[in-house]
Amino acid sequence: MIKTDVRLDDMTRGEIVRYLENTVEPEEGIIPAYIMSDPAVYDLEHEKVFLKTWLFLGHESEIPNNGDFVTRDLAGYSVIVSRNQDGVIRAFYNMCTHRGMKLCRADKGNKARFTCPYHGFTFKNSGELIGVPMQKDIYGGKLDFEAMGLHQVTIETYKGLIFGTFNDTPQDFSEFLGDFKWYLDIAVGRTDMEVVGPPQKFIINSQWKIGADNFVSDSYHTMVTHGSIAKLGMVPNATYSKKGYQVHTENGHGCNIGMPNPDFAFPEELIPEYKAHLSPQQFDMMADLKNMIGTIFPNLSFLVSHTEVKGKLISNTTVRLWRPIAVDKMEVITWFLVEKNASEDWKHRSRESYILTFSPSGIFEQDDTEVFTDITGAASGHVPFAKNYTYNYTMGKHRVPVKDFLGPGIVYDDKFTEANSRSYYRYWLDLMKA
Ligand SMILES: [Fe+2]
Repeated sequence: MIKTDVRLDDMTRGEIVRYLENTVEPEEGIIPAYIMSDPAVYDLEHEKVFLKTWLFLGHESEIPNNGDFVTRDLAGYSVIVSRNQDGVIRAFYNMCTHRGMKLCRADKGNKARFTCPYHGFTFKNSGELIGVPMQKDIYGGKLDFEAMGLHQVTIETYKGLIFGTFNDTPQDFSEFLGDFKWYLDIAVGRTDMEVVGPPQKFIINSQWKIGADNFVSDSYHTMVTHGSIAKLGMVPNATYSKKGYQVHTENGHGCNIGMPNPDFAFPEELIPEYKAHLSPQQFDMMADLKNMIGTIFPNLSFLVSHTEVKGKLISNTTVRLWRPIAVDKMEVITWFLVEKNASEDWKHRSRESYILTFSPSGIFEQDDTEVFTDITGAASGHVPFAKNYTYNYTMGKHRVPVKDFLGPGIVYDDKFTEANSRSYYRYWLDLMKA
């Protein structure tokens, strides 16, 4: 139990950082509940984490044609992600440079130009201001069009995933993903992948970190929270989630890899494609994969899950964003990804497998969201003094990493450990202190 008479909203930013340093002890497995519920921590997190790191915006396949665009949230601000007429993907603040009006209010579409609904200022989808009603008359031809282009947002892509940042001097994107790319390749870059349909969205009364933490590390909950799936015979037994590996790399990224698997759960006709996209070691892991669940710091998780559909084991792949809306509220946004060159029948069954398990109506998803909501409730004070408690993250602290593994990182040969959470909160704390 930590001190109960502390009020973070009375503290300066420096004092909050010192309090975090004194109470968050990732290596000891001590994570205080208040970091899940305190508005002052949430505000500081926005500044120190969300305005500084790379954040997920979408997938290239969502905007395949020139002029295609989606509007997305980046650290609480609306941005337009657009494939311009030259085929290049760019992102802009979704804001007219004249009066700050939201330029585009659609979720997606195809536009070569955006016209502001307020005064009709018109911008090319590459950002240049190209039209102002009556400008020669009312500005005397003196309006500086060049200075009034849309504000561009820095973006980078990796294997179809688009990330953006508001940081003017961000960490090098390739360094940010680092060794974790090895695992990401298998999850989303094993061949050409495409997003099917718009992402599914729902809002829950949960702190965003609980979802990111669950996916980065927590295989242990599967046997209890999702115990009904064993009872239904959808998995062989309640401890099926234990066997495999837990891996983390630098910068808080990590995943759990369920292995081995006697059945190949991907379209077999694509094996030559997989082998062309992956190293032999990556392909070996993929061929032996039972499932793969992970988080890219801070709030993008991914999942390669296998479910039996009509008597055959089928993989389904999703990426999901835990988008903070408030300290105790987030939007969960899930993109379903499938092999572009798989048969229509396989794509259909893979989507069915997703819908049954991790879609908003899926059995796993509903189990998890109940838990996330109740943890948030307790940390927010629905349980007296609960926000002053510390969580126990000591599982697996006694164990040593394995030396020989197919891929890079710190690897444990059992998924029931909290090593990845300890690494995740270490990086979180480092950023909060920076
Ligand atoms: Fe779960």
